[in-house]
Amino acid sequence: MARFHPPTLHFAFCYILIALTTNPSILLASEDDEFSIIDSDSNLFHQDYSPPAPPPPPPHPPSVSCTDDLGGVGSLDTTCQIVSDSNLTSDVYIAGKGNFYILPGVRFYCATPGCSIILNITGNFSLGNSSSIFAGDFELAAHNASFLNGSVVNTTGLAGKPPSQTSGTPQGIEGAGGGHGGRGACCLVDDTKLPEDVWGGDAYSWSSLQKPCSFGSRGGSTSKEVDYGGLGGGVVKLEIKLLLEVNGSVLADGGDGGTKGGGGSGGSIHIKAQRMTGSGRISACGGNGYAGGGGGRVSIDVFSRHDDPSVFVHGGSSNACPENAGGAGTLYDAVPRSLIISNHNKSTDTETLLLEFPYQPLWTNIYVRNKARATVPLLWSRVQVQGQISLLCDGVLSFGLQHYASSEFELLAEELLMSDSVIKVYGALRINVVVLRESSVIHSNANLGVHGQGLLNLSGPGDWIEAQRLVLSLFYSIHVGPGSVLRGPLENATSDSVTPKLYCENEDCPVELLHPPEDCNVNSSLSFTLQICRVEDINIAGLIKGSVCSFSQGEDHCCPLYWNDKCIRNG
Ligand SMILES: *[C@@H]1O[C@H](CO)[C@@H](O)[C@H](O)[C@H]1NC(C)=O
Ligand SMILES: *[C@@H]1O[C@H](CO)[C@@H](O)[C@H](O)[C@H]1NC(C)=O
Ligand SMILES: *[C@@H]1O[C@H](CO)[C@@H](O)[C@H](O)[C@H]1NC(C)=O
Ligand SMILES: *[C@@H]1O[C@H](CO)[C@@H](O)[C@H](O)[C@H]1NC(C)=O
Ligand SMILES: *[C@@H]1O[C@H](CO)[C@@H](O)[C@H](O)[C@H]1NC(C)=O
Ligand SMILES: *[C@@H]1O[C@H](CO)[C@@H](O)[C@H](O)[C@H]1NC(C)=O
Ligand SMILES: *[C@@H]1O[C@H](CO)[C@@H](O)[C@H](O)[C@H]1NC(C)=O
Ligand SMILES: *[C@@H]1O[C@H](CO)[C@@H](O)[C@H](O)[C@H]1NC(C)=O
Ligand SMILES: *[C@@H]1O[C@H](CO)[C@@H](O)[C@H](O)[C@H]1NC(C)=O
Ligand SMILES: *[C@@H]1O[C@H](CO)[C@@H](O)[C@H](O)[C@H]1NC(C)=O
Ligand SMILES: *[C@@H]1O[C@H](CO)[C@@H](O)[C@H](O)[C@H]1NC(C)=O
Ligand SMILES: *[C@@H]1O[C@H](CO)[C@@H](O)[C@H](O)[C@H]1NC(C)=O
Repeated sequence: MARFHPPTLHFAFCYILIALTTNPSILLASEDDEFSIIDSDSNLFHQDYSPPAPPPPPPHPPSVSCTDDLGGVGSLDTTCQIVSDSNLTSDVYIAGKGNFYILPGVRFYCATPGCSIILNITGNFSLGNSSSIFAGDFELAAHNASFLNGSVVNTTGLAGKPPSQTSGTPQGIEGAGGGHGGRGACCLVDDTKLPEDVWGGDAYSWSSLQKPCSFGSRGGSTSKEVDYGGLGGGVVKLEIKLLLEVNGSVLADGGDGGTKGGGGSGGSIHIKAQRMTGSGRISACGGNGYAGGGGGRVSIDVFSRHDDPSVFVHGGSSNACPENAGGAGTLYDAVPRSLIISNHNKSTDTETLLLEFPYQPLWTNIYVRNKARATVPLLWSRVQVQGQISLLCDGVLSFGLQHYASSEFELLAEELLMSDSVIKVYGALRINVVVLRESSVIHSNANLGVHGQGLLNLSGPGDWIEAQRLVLSLFYSIHVGPGSVLRGPLENATSDSVTPKLYCENEDCPVELLHPPEDCNVNSSLSFTLQICRVEDINIAGLIKGSVCSFSQGEDHCCPLYWNDKCIRNG
């Protein structure tokens, strides 16, 4: 059983809202007094998302020698040059005080799954024009490093074992993709489930996304007898003191599963340098296959960047269901502390899991874009960043679980900016400053409280906020542009939509839910479905619709006004 321990809600400043407890027992504390997610549907969580920290690595063996072991010229304490192809047959550790050059056109490889090449030198490293390194795990520590035009570090499909207790490799014979940063796709059609509830291998190693080091996972097979799944992507770590030049390719993609196997998931790439230049390619994508593998994890910690290499972490393509590629992996940009989830416009129903967010320090920005679908599959959580949460180009961000619509989230950011994107909430959500553009939608099948100190701007046609019960409060200004809609309840409520109850009836609920603050709270005896409260200024060119609306302007009282089943329009 998976168990999450999202932080309980301790607000320094309080305006809370809306609990909703269609099924209060879901919120029961477990024996160890932490909220746990229900275990009745173990299928949903067939894995532990945060494997324990691995034991410290064993000390390195002594370094191999340049000439005897590697067939090179020179010495590792001056300059070692690899002048001809070198087929290593087992892990190597290479260390010295000099330079290490792999000359143009040379292949330096240990091409068995999981085989590791670790290079630790004090001088320069260079991988020549058209040279290649193949390995499962390539780690380089050097002063400067150049990966020249046409060169490749290729750990594609050469993963060793992924961390234990992960289920990145799907079970069954559906030919599903492996998971890692994103889930693997599964082409099975199950009409009893939502498309996003069907996936292959699961995601893992969220907790190490800032310093990713896990192998990708193998895809599934379509046959019981033969394992056709593509292997996972390997691991690349570059720790360069000064200057890193990437004009070649650095690859940790998942292996291809062909027509009978799922793609492997992308592996991990962790780059740390003072300065990075070049126009190469850095990629930890899911492998293609019967169903595509999930993207891997990339983290880039570089202080100064020039004509950046391009970075890719998208899911692999699914031959059997082209509309549903593997889920996007994660790209963490360490200097601005930003997380980017992009599926490179590959359409998918397969999700990227976002779990707990760090508090000290907070991340700055989160971008979900280019058809990525990110989800926070928890019951309680605070998703907090310092800057912006931005959903662009068909990005989807969902909170909670469709089957348990009583989740509750707080989303804290300077700004939530949405363009042609969707937020789905299964439960309640609190957010601050919100701007919706180009047909963006915030949808909740239960209570949605949107509370902020700034502007709520639904700028034009297709921009909607809708929920079974919608409460907007504390905004300085609400702008509902032409063609925009604020609506409660949902027009076409489905069976998973819940009639929300206010306040939590369970003793174990956080105190804020039992005793909401006085100002602007929601009085459960009022049967409204849309409330706008303590908002300075409202400008409505679009539509506000609710069966009963309770408006209140001004500081110290909420005086309800009702419009039964009537649309309100005004200038
Ligand atoms: C490299 O060595 C291994 C083991 O000796 C062998 O199986 C493999 O074929 C060699 N690869 C090449 C390209 O020579
Ligand atoms: C490289 O070797 C030095 C000692 O020579 C050691 O201090 C350092 O930790 C090593 N770096 C890596 C990444 O192994
Ligand atoms: C690394 O590159 C910089 C700039 O090209 C150079 O000044 C420095 O000497 C190089 N470092 C080493 C160890 O050669
Ligand atoms: C390392 O490379 C830089 C240029 O990239 C060069 O200036 C420097 O002399 C090289 N260092 C050594 C020790 O060869
Ligand atoms: C790269 O190597 C190829 C042959 O391997 C050669 O034709 C080409 O000129 C080289 N390019 C550079 C920029 O050195
Ligand atoms: C790098 O190689 C590609 C082809 O492999 C070529 O199109 C490009 O011009 C080269 N760039 C440089 C700077 O040599
Ligand atoms: C990397 O390795 C994979 C698997 O062996 C291979 O399919 C791919 O062509 C390689 N990529 C490059 C650029 O060498
Ligand atoms: C790397 O690529 C950049 C931009 O394409 C180019 O200016 C630079 O000369 C290249 N460096 C090498 C060593 O090929
Ligand atoms: C994805 O699509 C958007 C909008 O069509 C476009 O602006 C963007 O450049 C595309 N991105 C990629 C990586 O293809
Ligand atoms: C709302 O956003 C639109 C598009 O960004 C902008 O044109 C408009 O001025 C904004 N309205 C307000 C009141 O800021
Ligand atoms: C609700 O259903 C009606 C009829 O099927 C449809 O015309 C309308 O667009 C739907 N509304 C929404 C918000 O999906
Ligand atoms: C809720 O509203 C009812 C009717 O207006 C009122 O009697 C009651 O005191 C209110 N409760 C709270 C907690 O404000």
